[in-house]
Amino acid sequence: MTQKKKFIIGNWKMNPATTSLATDIFKKIQKDTAHLTKTQTIICPPYIYLESLARLQGLSKAAKKTKKKKKESSHTLAPVLLGAQNLNSEPMGARTGEISGELLKQFGVTHVIIGHSERRDLGETDAIINTKILAALNWKFKVILCVGEKVRDDDGHYLAFIKNQLEQALAGVKKENLKSLIVAYEPVWAIGATEAIPPSSIHGMTIFIRKTLFDIYKTRTLTTPILYGGSVDSKNAGEILQQGSADGLLIGRQSLDPNAFTAIAVTANTLS
Ligand code: 13P
Repeated sequence: MTQKKKFIIGNWKMNPATTSLATDIFKKIQKDTAHLTKTQTIICPPYIYLESLARLQGLSKAAKKTKKKKKESSHTLAPVLLGAQNLNSEPMGARTGEISGELLKQFGVTHVIIGHSERRDLGETDAIINTKILAALNWKFKVILCVGEKVRDDDGHYLAFIKNQLEQALAGVKKENLKSLIVAYEPVWAIGATEAIPPSSIHGMTIFIRKTLFDIYKTRTLTTPILYGGSVDSKNAGEILQQGSADGLLIGRQSLDPNAFTAIAVTANTLS
């Protein structure tokens, strides 16, 4: 497979507490990851911080243009992209408390997390997730589809569970849209826990997910990135990427610590 950039994605969930904290963390990540050429960093903050962070991101884009004008490598700045944690499948209208693709687009959001287990816990079904994915693709977002079992059993039923999550989420998603898909395997029991699952299990799951995508799309040329999420930190990131053969990481708590997040991104960069 061709060498691809690793995705290091921060899911800030319902954090941090203030805009000023959010901008401080983002600025630090921007500055400390700017030299990375083989890693794509993405931050998915609460919606209310998108505007402030988009402004900071605008500065990065301007700086990138200046560099290009000077005929320097466009790789000297790796902008931190912005992602959203959800979106409603409707573009506008009477949907109290919801966010739409139309609203997100104005802040330069490029990626959307869909199907996170914390949203599934709030009642999001596979069918709802499917409509959200179709809407997100329509809006030209890259989709970060989260799948993961709640528990593991010795008989391997969790594999059928994940296969079903993928099949339902991707119903009606065309092969040509796969270039806009990232799958994040997040075993629910490892989210917010003390330890990630062993890299060997992650390796097994990346193979299983790739095989499932092959079964659905009947093509061997799939380059869909498969990420891991769940208690990732700067100590375990390297082995998850290497031995777990993950194409990137979806990080919760440690993405709010700019030093830890940067350390993970630097590790990914050296392994790419
Ligand atoms: P933690 O990294 O805090 O375990 O969260 C993982 C997660 O849910 C990312 O989406």
